[in-house]
Amino acid sequence: MQHAQKARRTPAEHEARTDLAAMPANGLPSRLGAVLLESIAQEMSALAEQASALLRTPSESLSLETDIFAQIVRRNVPRWHFAMLNDTDRNEALVAALERGIPAGATVLDIGSGSGLLAMAAARAGASRVFTCEMNPLLAEVARNVVDAHGLSDVITVIGKPSTELDPQRDLGGPVDVLVSEIVDCGLIGEGLLPTVRHAREHLLALDGIMLPSAARLYGRLVNSEAVLRLNQATTVGGFDVSLMNTLATRGHFPVRLDTWPHRFLSEAAPVLEFDLARDDLEPGERTLEFPATADGEAQALVVWFELDMGNGIVLSNTPDAPRSHWMPGWVPLEKPALTKAGETTSLRLRWSDFTLRVSP
Ligand SMILES: C[S@@+](CC[C@H](N)C(=O)[O-])C[C@H]1O[C@@H](n2cnc3c(N)ncnc32)[C@H](O)[C@@H]1O
Repeated sequence: MQHAQKARRTPAEHEARTDLAAMPANGLPSRLGAVLLESIAQEMSALAEQASALLRTPSESLSLETDIFAQIVRRNVPRWHFAMLNDTDRNEALVAALERGIPAGATVLDIGSGSGLLAMAAARAGASRVFTCEMNPLLAEVARNVVDAHGLSDVITVIGKPSTELDPQRDLGGPVDVLVSEIVDCGLIGEGLLPTVRHAREHLLALDGIMLPSAARLYGRLVNSEAVLRLNQATTVGGFDVSLMNTLATRGHFPVRLDTWPHRFLSEAAPVLEFDLARDDLEPGERTLEFPATADGEAQALVVWFELDMGNGIVLSNTPDAPRSHWMPGWVPLEKPALTKAGETTSLRLRWSDFTLRVSP
C-alpha cells in the first residue's frame, strides 16, 4: 500500500523533473554501448549453450521445428530474402543480364549465393564453371542443396565463406573471367558493395575480366516528412519525455516505403554517387551535392535510390517511381535540417564510408 501514499505528479511536473539535457553527453552513449555488447554476449552464449546441447543429441533426433532453430533462423537470415526472391522484375533482369553478359565457357564467381539463383542462372547461361560464395553458413547450405537438386553440382561449387576470405588459387583454381554480384541495399553501399568489389577486382578476377554489374549510381531528392521522421524518433509520449530513446535511433540510411507516408519533395532529383566498378578506387570519400530546390521548406532527409548497370542495357533500380520493387527507396537523415528556397540551389556535404552515407548541410 505504500505506493498509494505517493503524491501523484502532473504530466507537466514529470516533464520538468526529467533533465535529459543535463545528462553527460558522452557518458550515456558509452554506457549504452557497454549494455548493448553485454546483452549480445549474453544472448550469444545462451544460444551457444543450447546449440552445443543440441549437438550432443543424436543427429536423427534434431528437428528444424524446435524453438532454438526458429531463433537462429530469425536472427541469422534476413526476412527480405523472400521478398527479393519474389521480385520478378529483379529476377528477370538479373537472369537476362547473365544470359547476355556471360561468354560461353567462361568461369564465373558469384558473390553472395543466397538461394543459389544467380549461380544456377550463370551455369544455364553457358559458364563452364561457376563458384559461388556465401558468408552466411545457413544460406550456403541451402544453396548447396538447391544446386544439387538441380543436378548442377558438377558445374557449380558453393563455398561457405565471405568473398574477402577466398584464396583465388585454392578456392577458384585461379582468377575468374566474370564476377557477378547482387549485394546492394536501398542506399547502394550498405551491404558492402564497395569493399567487396574492391577486393574481388584485385584478387579474384582476371585482368580483363567482366564485371556484372559494371557501374552503380545513386540519386537523391530532398524531402520533408514528419511521418517518416517519427519512424526513427520519439519525444514526449503521454506527458513523459522519452527522447532518450533517440540514442537508439537508426544512424545512417534505412529503407522506407515512401509512397505509403505523407511527404513533400523539396527539390529535383540530383546525382549523389557514381561508381565505375571496374575502374574507380571505390574508397570512402566526400563530396558536395547540389539540389535545385523546387519549394520553400525544411528538408529533413535525402530520399535515395540506385541504378545498377548490368550491361546490355539492363538496369536495376529502386526508384520511388517503381514501387513494385522489393527494395524500398532509402531515407538518409540529414545530420541537421536544411532550409530550401524554391528556385535556389541547396548544397549539402556527403561523406560515405564502406557501408554508410552521412549527409550534412
Ligand atoms: C541480396 S542477396 C542476393 C542473393 C542471390 N545472389 C540472389 O540474387 O538471389 C546477397 C547475399 O550475399 C551475401 N553476401 C554479401 N556480401 C558477401 C560477401 N562479401 N561474401 C559472401 N557473401 C556475401 C549475403 O549474405 C546475402 O545472402
